[in-house]
Amino acid sequence: MDQIRIIGGFPLHGDVEVGGAKNAALPILAASLLGGGECIIDHVPQVRDLMTMGKLLALLGVEVQTEGHQVILDASHVQSIEAPYDLVKTMRASILALGPLLTRLGEAKVSLPGGCAIGTRPVSLHLKGLAMMGAEIQVEHGYIHAKARRLKGARIDLDFPTVTGTENLIMAACLAEGTTSLHHVAREPEILDLCAFLTKRGAKIHGAGTDTITIEGVAELHGATHWVMPDRVEAGTFVMAGAIAGGDVMIKGCVTDHLGTMFTKIQEMGVELTEGAEGVRVRRAGQLQAVEVKTLPYPGFPTDLQAQMMALMSVAEGTSVMTETIFEGRFLHVPELQRMGASIEVDGPHAVVKGTQALAGAEVMASDLRASAGLVLAGLAAEGETTISRVYHLDRGYERLEEKLQVLGAQVQRVREVA
Ligand code: EPU
Repeated sequence: MDQIRIIGGFPLHGDVEVGGAKNAALPILAASLLGGGECIIDHVPQVRDLMTMGKLLALLGVEVQTEGHQVILDASHVQSIEAPYDLVKTMRASILALGPLLTRLGEAKVSLPGGCAIGTRPVSLHLKGLAMMGAEIQVEHGYIHAKARRLKGARIDLDFPTVTGTENLIMAACLAEGTTSLHHVAREPEILDLCAFLTKRGAKIHGAGTDTITIEGVAELHGATHWVMPDRVEAGTFVMAGAIAGGDVMIKGCVTDHLGTMFTKIQEMGVELTEGAEGVRVRRAGQLQAVEVKTLPYPGFPTDLQAQMMALMSVAEGTSVMTETIFEGRFLHVPELQRMGASIEVDGPHAVVKGTQALAGAEVMASDLRASAGLVLAGLAAEGETTISRVYHLDRGYERLEEKLQVLGAQVQRVREVA
């Protein structure tokens, strides 16, 4: 297994380019299932979750060709309706096959994703919405088995703006009979990107990016070409790398609007952020200042940047408070940051972080994708050497993170774990 080894204390300088968004590419690839015809998807990040999605689609009978950051898909001959446990357990986003399979083929069998390090993560809202569109759904032997001759348009009000739930229902509604109106839906930029792709394929969608989306069902979708939006979580991670390490970094492809309230929070911490045509420039001269942050659905502060933000809070002057409102178990990075000398007390959804002058390098363990990124940032600021094990979590969603940081002058290396 690989480890990441970091010698902290080096400011970052130079330019770094943000890749395509994992969480936009995943539903877009799944949306290939909605019809025949060639779909050419560019700017797909080369990360493990996308490889898993490619494997799943191939298993279902989609022709999948990957070359670098381009994926060409043709779902003219889908043969299977089943997403098996073996794949779903390695990637929860496999649930995104449910809506497309059901609406296109009239039946879908998708393994229940099961537990997850960051929380219980139910999919009940996906199922409730599909049932309102006329699907008969049974959950047995660990599988969701859904059937419907043809889904019917309906009015659906979500109890919570679930991201993949919204995506599943949008995709299902594209081929349903009549009009579906989805209320209180997620407004994440990835939803807009998915809708842009579906519209290119011939879907009729209105209101993407607002909390009400209306979809008029059509008989079929055709092929299309699409360029995936830049990854706002990767961009945010680089913004925070510049903030915690200091120096002067240009993050190319970073779209300020996509960062939501994170942009303002980083400025509040005393970091200079300048928007330009190419991206965002990050400069920090003085010490980081404490802030209060609450994770919320977009455009609030993203839960996917919470662990990274806690690394910054650990070295900020004063006492910061982080409140996690999206996932109940997403504080697994706290004991690891504590090993590096961070002063953090967790009380339910709140973490109170007393900034210390400097973290100390240590051996730590990654527990989930974004927690790993938080530990990398902490390592950049720590005195001495930090070794992060279980970096396969990091590889699920970041493409060559260590190489991109090396270009900026960070002393970071991927090494093989010594047995
Ligand atoms: N929820 C329910 N019932 C449901 C669905 C969700 O109660 O049926 C709750 C969840 O338990 C959670 C909250 O709603 O408390 C938000 O979950 P959501 O469904 O929005 O999350 P998701 O769609 O499973 C996506 C991203 C996550 C990201 C979250 C929140 C993808 C593939 N995944 O997950 O990304 O954290 O939205 O923004 O888009 C990551 O990239 O590291 C990652 C975990």
